[in-house]
Amino acid sequence: PQACGVVPEAWRFDCYPERGVVVTRELCEARNCCFIPASSSPPAPGRNGVPWCFYPPGFPSYSLVSVNATDLGQTGTLVKTVKTYYPKDILTLQLELLYETDNRLRVRITDPSESRFEVPIAVPKATEKASSPAYSVELSNEPFGIIVKRTSTGAVLLNTTVAPLFYCDQFLQLSSSLSSQYIYGLGEHRSSFLHDIHWNTLTMWARDVAPTELTNLYGVHPFYLAMDEGGTGTAHGFFLLNSNAMDVVLQPGPAITWRTIGGILDFYVFLGPDPASVIGQYLEVVGYPAMPVYWALGYHLCRWGYGSSNATWDVVKNMRNYRIPQDVQWNNCVCVCVCVCVCVFQDVQWNDIDYMDRSLDFTFDPTAFSTLPDMVKDLHSHGQRYVMILDPGISSVQPEGGYWPYDEGLRRGVFINHTDGSTLIGKVWPGLTSFPDFSDDVTHEWWYDNLKRFHDKVPFDGLWIDMNEPSSFVDGSTVGCPDTELENPPYTPGILGGLLRAKTLCASAVQKTSSHYNMHSLYGLLEAKASARALKRMLGKRAFVISRSTFPSQGQYSGHWLGDNRSHWKDMYTSIAGMLTFNLLGVPLVGADVCGFSEQTEEELCVRWTQLGAFYPFTRNHNSIDQKPQDPPAFSPAACSAMKQSLLLRSSLFPLLYTLFHRAHTHGHTVARPLLFEFPKDVRTYGIDRQFLWGKSLMVTPVLDPGVDYVVGYFPQGLWYDYYTGDSIRSKGEELRLKAPLEHINLHLREGAVIPTQRPNTTLFVSSGQPLHLVSSLSEDGSAGGELFWDDGESIDTFETDQYAHVVFTVVKNTMTSEVLHDHVEASYITVETASFYGVKVEPTRVMVNSHDAAFTYRANQVLTVTDLGLNLSQNFTINWI
Ligand code: GLC
Repeated sequence: PQACGVVPEAWRFDCYPERGVVVTRELCEARNCCFIPASSSPPAPGRNGVPWCFYPPGFPSYSLVSVNATDLGQTGTLVKTVKTYYPKDILTLQLELLYETDNRLRVRITDPSESRFEVPIAVPKATEKASSPAYSVELSNEPFGIIVKRTSTGAVLLNTTVAPLFYCDQFLQLSSSLSSQYIYGLGEHRSSFLHDIHWNTLTMWARDVAPTELTNLYGVHPFYLAMDEGGTGTAHGFFLLNSNAMDVVLQPGPAITWRTIGGILDFYVFLGPDPASVIGQYLEVVGYPAMPVYWALGYHLCRWGYGSSNATWDVVKNMRNYRIPQDVQWNNCVCVCVCVCVCVFQDVQWNDIDYMDRSLDFTFDPTAFSTLPDMVKDLHSHGQRYVMILDPGISSVQPEGGYWPYDEGLRRGVFINHTDGSTLIGKVWPGLTSFPDFSDDVTHEWWYDNLKRFHDKVPFDGLWIDMNEPSSFVDGSTVGCPDTELENPPYTPGILGGLLRAKTLCASAVQKTSSHYNMHSLYGLLEAKASARALKRMLGKRAFVISRSTFPSQGQYSGHWLGDNRSHWKDMYTSIAGMLTFNLLGVPLVGADVCGFSEQTEEELCVRWTQLGAFYPFTRNHNSIDQKPQDPPAFSPAACSAMKQSLLLRSSLFPLLYTLFHRAHTHGHTVARPLLFEFPKDVRTYGIDRQFLWGKSLMVTPVLDPGVDYVVGYFPQGLWYDYYTGDSIRSKGEELRLKAPLEHINLHLREGAVIPTQRPNTTLFVSSGQPLHLVSSLSEDGSAGGELFWDDGESIDTFETDQYAHVVFTVVKNTMTSEVLHDHVEASYITVETASFYGVKVEPTRVMVNSHDAAFTYRANQVLTVTDLGLNLSQNFTINWI
């Protein structure tokens, strides 16, 4: 058609996305699309580039033929007369606009004549229409489209008129303009934190594969956060509640296309207006993350292939005996404590599949791991915890009567079946296996029973659930998969392996809730839900679960590690983007395998990685089989000391980290936070993924390159303080070169903060009540603020049941006030021992604590430290100076 030439390249929407097809003019025109070979050079490997075959203006789409007002918004009917080139067009659709809250719009497009699969997660049900929405919605009739604008600025956040709408049984496609090129989220992918919009297709379908660029990975999260047009610093979000295999195509328009092969179109727009509010609003829909048990935030040590319980135990003992050489100074000593030799700095020991008897779940190797129960008891007697791996594949070939999990599972009918009712058999570590269907409550009960029986032998504390994409070493099943529409859909997204069943179960397999075709990417979520439930019920405490596969609402049940990375500097760098993205997705308990999983690590990398890892919300050193040990004592004394320093630093920051998790749990805040969240008006922060913040104030600038003793970091405009020394930096919004010798990780405190820290002890055993040290970073006008959430660290729902303390610290006009907003006996065990104030411009002559003179020191770099406070945290107090 003539109009083809007028479509700018950036706005060409792909009419022939099928892979492995050389799209000719003939093929393209058979779809009534435009064919123009792109002018630019060929796309980068893995990228699709400007489509040669694209929709012409006026390509048939739906028309909006009626609109009616409803209690919550509007409903409408969409019709289409011309069929598309995919089978089973649904020619009449129902549109529903739900003005759910002032900051949240929901749009549902469904088939009015037949119900279709919908994702089985609970979302809020609005009962009243938003009274003063921050958005306005315009509907285009012909072709049908939705335009969503921010009322206050007029910014267009969504405009779906840019390309035709598809709604076939197995091909649903919605395109929209993007408000800007700044788009984040869309996990799980390995990429920079800020996505590249240059013809970048992000495929979603849970998959077991070592993190690789441009490939679908373990988790599926169809949510993005984007900055509005015009650089105003406002942000919005979009969530497509759909679990089917999909492509998400970003193109330079800027525009986005959602191309999914099932379910319905059900999406939300979140109005923010700041990035943090967008995340809070998204998490109101999918659920706030669980409050972790305190030891989840400790140091975790793991590897595949310790080989025996005694070898594992030796590692634990070695860690206990490792002491800081006397001549090594811990930088933070001045602030926090005297550098005594602290013996234990490990909180949790893990085991990988080698603890099992022939890789069978719920067993342990009776020979090599015969002392496992004793080791776990020993861990407990030292205030340490034990976590072991479980894979979902249950061996299906043990002699009858010899393996309870399978026998009982069969009896209760918990396994996923083929369409003919036979058990689907795949292959995982133990050989042939069946796969529990966690979409069935009967399976949850069976899972609990298995855990309970095993726990009676090995009193583990938490669970590591792996291989839950679910992963199988054969495609589909040992007998293949039937040739059906679910197995061979008319369009297959850009899944690794090219088939839905690649390294997983048959798409046609039958689960209680729906076909595996629909349920596949929910497997990890539902297994985590079953596991968290079982642990809570069994232990009566908060559940600790770390899952490889994840889906929206995962944070309610588990944390996540970023999978099988390599011991490369690049993998260390990309872990920051992974960590930040999962914080956006409501899974703040996240980290990568510290020092790298596969391939051999090296000492310098492992030191730098342990330092960065000390600032992962979840920090675990994990290593693959056949690699040399990489636990801290495996390295030179200097390296081990450097690692230990960073871990002690982490444990000293535990009160801050715990409080941040409380904010995540109650308000949907991020824990590890991108700089752009705190400086949304500063465009220079938009692409930063080599630095990050804990909360709003503590900035981490890790070294990510070999052989350097400095690091360059960006400092947004304002006053910053070196966390260790209190030296101040006034930044105009500039990059600074910082000293970074091997034993040092740069930490800076933003002006205006009060952060609670504690004297690090042997483990994070909270109720031992380590004395607190408060660090205040005064802003130019001398003010600062912060808070502390404290409870017993492990009881379920302490906030919800009022079993917590909440203390707020404020500094104004040379006076710090500590105010107990909510008291609990746990706070009365804690004393505040010292307080440091960075940026006290004039040397005080007197310092008073609750109006009594107190001892203090003042340094030339404007740091005031008040010592020997002995204040009870559960009582209000003031510290002032004149
Ligand atoms: C998977 C996991 C990895 C684990 C291994 C053996 O590759 O991702 O962490 O060590 O399986 O269980």
